[in-house]
Amino acid sequence: MTSSDPVLEYLRSHLSQPVVLIGMMGAGKTHLGRKLAEALKMEFKDSDKIVEEKAGLSINEIFTQYGEEKFRAAEQNAVLEILSQGACVLATGGGAIMNEHVRTAFKDKAITVWLNTDIQEILKRVRHAKDRPLLKQGDPETVLKNLLKKRENFYREADIEIKPTGNAEETLKNMINSLYEYLKADTV
Ligand code: S3P
Repeated sequence: MTSSDPVLEYLRSHLSQPVVLIGMMGAGKTHLGRKLAEALKMEFKDSDKIVEEKAGLSINEIFTQYGEEKFRAAEQNAVLEILSQGACVLATGGGAIMNEHVRTAFKDKAITVWLNTDIQEILKRVRHAKDRPLLKQGDPETVLKNLLKKRENFYREADIEIKPTGNAEETLKNMINSLYEYLKADTV
């Protein structure tokens, strides 16, 4: 897929809403989101990064100093603000979907893409991560499975579902083609 590919050209001229990547921590939202933004020549935004910048603290520090509830409020503010700023590619934190206001804004203002990465693959990536405070609350596999159980039905409401293949280029191509199909279907 070259930069002047007609599918990419079509997406660049027709995408007027934010494309929001949702899914569990370690699903690849930031990595694939950056690649997608680059291919679409759109700005890439990351709600976790924006929360950290605004607070002047890391996610870990926010959780330990202020607790998860405060983090969720800051996350809601960051996501709603980004969604009001027009087209971009946005990678959200894995738990943002649990917030009703965020879900409503996703439905009204964005195209959502669920990266439905295999849980065993996620575990390989995040098992030893120090920057994921929720994983410190117990055995990482149990924590992840419990979180997924609570979130899965909300993730499933996404406009597009992608099963990452383990090959980022291939997954990127799948995302681009799915976005194209989605927009085409919408304009018929
Ligand atoms: C969280 C995921 C993290 C971050 C925070 C909470 C979650 O973001 O927002 O640690 O609840 O799943 P990533 O999904 O980018 O890791």
